Amino acid sequence: MRQETAADDRGGTPPGGAGADRCPRGGGAALPLHVGVGADMPWSRLRERHGGLVAVEISPGVSGWLLLGYKENLQVLRDQTRFSADPRPWSPGGAAPARSGALAHDGEEHRRLRTAIVDTLARVGTPQLVPVVERAAVHLLDRVAADGSADLIGRFAAPLPALVLNELFGLPDAYGHLLADLTLRLWSGGPDRAEHAAPAIRSYFRGLVARKRADPGEDVASWLLAHPNGLTDDEAVEALSLLWETGHEPTTHLIGNALLRLLEDPNVWTAYLGGTLTPEDLVDYVMWTEPPIRMLAGRYSTTDVRFAGARIRRGDPLLLGFAAAHTDPSVSRGGDDAMALAGNRSHLSWGAGAHRCPATGFARELVRTAIDTAVDRLRGMLLAVGPEDLRRRASLTVHGLVELPVWFTATGERAEPAEPREERAEAPVRRRIRRKRGPAPRGARYQAPLARGGTEEEQAAVESVPAPAVRPRRRSPQGVGARYQAPFAREEVRPDSLEKLLATWRSRE
Ligand code: HEM
Repeated sequence: MRQETAADDRGGTPPGGAGADRCPRGGGAALPLHVGVGADMPWSRLRERHGGLVAVEISPGVSGWLLLGYKENLQVLRDQTRFSADPRPWSPGGAAPARSGALAHDGEEHRRLRTAIVDTLARVGTPQLVPVVERAAVHLLDRVAADGSADLIGRFAAPLPALVLNELFGLPDAYGHLLADLTLRLWSGGPDRAEHAAPAIRSYFRGLVARKRADPGEDVASWLLAHPNGLTDDEAVEALSLLWETGHEPTTHLIGNALLRLLEDPNVWTAYLGGTLTPEDLVDYVMWTEPPIRMLAGRYSTTDVRFAGARIRRGDPLLLGFAAAHTDPSVSRGGDDAMALAGNRSHLSWGAGAHRCPATGFARELVRTAIDTAVDRLRGMLLAVGPEDLRRRASLTVHGLVELPVWFTATGERAEPAEPREERAEAPVRRRIRRKRGPAPRGARYQAPLARGGTEEEQAAVESVPAPAVRPRRRSPQGVGARYQAPFAREEVRPDSLEKLLATWRSRE
């Protein structure tokens, strides 16, 4: 990505006020996004001053454009010819792109990767999804039920999507807790913890693909691998990682933001419990007013173009401004009123155009079930701190809470006593996704994919660890006479890469 771009003829006084950086484009001033964007950005004021587009400095020395208007966001999202989703040609200094898989491609290649994802997700209908979400939600809420207070982000909204996705991927619960913990370390653990979490998450997905390629079942990972579009192992790793990357954090904060709205506003709470505000309408209301993704570094100009009164140069990054677009008077006539917005689904929080979120039904169902379960199990739920004491995530992209502390009536229920770890790894409480029994693995078969792929860091994340304490997932059949003894005596049953990763994680706990 080039640093020098066109003069910003929308420049003028920096909205950040005195001290705001000069626009590196040479004209006017750029809005310095990196020097602290508060939870409440003055979107209306920015739009009045700059129109549908403002020049920004995304990080020191990296300039771009933030789309402020609804129409401008929609135009860019829908125009794959002038605005590409692929960041690679402009990645500064060859740094790894923030987007990957289907999200980072356009045209035919995008269609091939996306269709595999869409068709796979279509196989997870409400009857399959809801029990999985309920089970995970009840499990998490039971852990706090006896306490009478909890942080509903850390104890509920953050781990929940990891547990759900992990189960749909077809892995035992222990790996869901692993994914949840790694996700927490990645996003809120500071640079040191994040550094270790990133390669471990990569190893999780490589291990998942290796296991399901060798031993397919009736689950999302196996369906994706069996899709007629013929994804390679690397493409499948990208696609499954993408489901987690794009799905986990926004889902967490949609749940968190929705719970906060219910707790903060007695009218919303009453309407929700009374059924006049349906769960679907609550989700859309929150998507309008508290979108979990408020800005997204999403498009790159493929050509020099005049757009919304500005000259944009080839390669310039454009930030999609969902939160800003939702305050645009051309669409926000309902203001902040939940009932006035009921039934209005024209918000941009799912995106639009070729890359529109393929999991809207899935995410809605997940979030709605999560909220219903929390409201049902945590009777008399109240905010434990004043709204002014709630801490928000310091992120340009994510709009959500660091914690959501609540009080509720303690039920006296206790979390299930911890099962022996070996058992928990193998025995989820209830399975709605039927697993097909494949042939028994034969040791070395599972080692191959890791040996073939993976960066040195990823290899180190799983291989520089002692042999795991978990028992091997399957054992060779007991020998019935010499016929069986000979081959199995020679074949050592080794843990696969996922089992090694789990053992590493447990040893660090
Ligand atoms: C509240 C939750 C969610 C929100 C707000 C959300 C939002 C979005 C948005 C805005 C995009 C488009 C990005 C762009 O155009 O650059 C997108 C794409 C995507 N989302 Fe979601 N999403 C959510 C949940 C999920 C979940 C749960 C999954 C999967 C399990 C998922 C999978 C994807 C995938 C695979 C893409 C890329 C599609 C493509 O490039 O064609 N999302 N999402």
